[in-house]
Amino acid sequence: LDNGLARTPQMGFNNWNATHCSGDFNETMVKGIADLFVSSGLKDAGYQYVNLDDCWALPQRDASGDLVADPVRFPDGIKAVADYVHSKGLKFGLYSSAGTKTCNTAGFPGGLGHERQDAALWASWGVDYLKYDNCNNAGSTTTQQYIDRYSAMRDALAATGRPILYSLCEWGVNDPWTWGPAVGNSWRTTGDISDKYSSMLSIFKKNVVLAPYAGPGHWNDPDMLEVGNGGMTDTEYRSHFSLWSVMAAPLLIGSDIRKATPATMGILTNRDVIAVDQDPLGVQGTELSNANGLHVVAKPLANGDRAVALFNENNSPATISTTAAAVGLPKAFGYQLNDLWSHKTFETAGKISATVPAHGTAMFRVHAGGNWWSNPPAVHTNAELP
Ligand code: GLA
Repeated sequence: LDNGLARTPQMGFNNWNATHCSGDFNETMVKGIADLFVSSGLKDAGYQYVNLDDCWALPQRDASGDLVADPVRFPDGIKAVADYVHSKGLKFGLYSSAGTKTCNTAGFPGGLGHERQDAALWASWGVDYLKYDNCNNAGSTTTQQYIDRYSAMRDALAATGRPILYSLCEWGVNDPWTWGPAVGNSWRTTGDISDKYSSMLSIFKKNVVLAPYAGPGHWNDPDMLEVGNGGMTDTEYRSHFSLWSVMAAPLLIGSDIRKATPATMGILTNRDVIAVDQDPLGVQGTELSNANGLHVVAKPLANGDRAVALFNENNSPATISTTAAAVGLPKAFGYQLNDLWSHKTFETAGKISATVPAHGTAMFRVHAGGNWWSNPPAVHTNAELP
């Protein structure tokens, strides 16, 4: 959506994957996350939005038809929370559904038919980001019905005059990548992620083929991060973070980082990997090969480098290889390979290769024009000469 927002994929936090609608989702949590964004370096690493998901409201609108915050979870109201988040130099996001009710069975009110009133209220609270879900959508099935429901809120948000990033949550129904770029800043390409390797893997496979549809202001959204929630190994979480970044996906932290391990924080604050996600060229990586579950994904970067992710989906270690030419780099007298997880630098004549653990990902930034000829590493062989 051409509203000046999300020129690079949005980064922030959303409580859903960590809490769903449990009692942990409340003002104390949200303020604690905002505090941690500042104190733990997440804000400096680029995370900006602190977003609330479903279950922030009461089931009934008030006498004037306005949404009301749940007074148990948010005793000071939503504006007070937004003000607090803003006081930390961060931005604040909220959730609703393009339907009569949101997704939770408690039946919180949706935005369908209330677009102008709700958008105006959110703007008055200082909302900077809306995630707009697809539940209770009045039986809509056709693409046009989807476009109409999501465009109504796009127009209502624009009418407020406040810049509000607009994240569509239509679960990939009706090929949103074809109509989403004109409607929202991002669209979900799949159903909900869960904190399991199999879920992350299947979402990656659906999202990676959609590279041509993404660009500045309009991104494929393979759903929020599970990093740190405990259902995957750190190796799998590193893959999750690497793959989302090489796919230029929104990076919404979905774990309660007040309880994060050092390994979780290390993944989420890896600035070299974040720089791949946030590269200003704004191109989603393309999968060059995936034979036998060995995936090579390459992403062109603004300075001419390529980011390369070598992902081993299998249950045993494997060597994954490609070349500088295959990832689209020009002919050069050598290439510099920065390993974005070990932070080591290598020189190569053109081969890009790594032994990758089960479910792991090696990720490199590759630069044409290293000094391989003057400094040939011993591990390289004549077979690699161009
Ligand atoms: C849907 C969305 C999720 C989450 C829940 C909230 O399932 O896809 O991301 O927002 O609703 O109820």
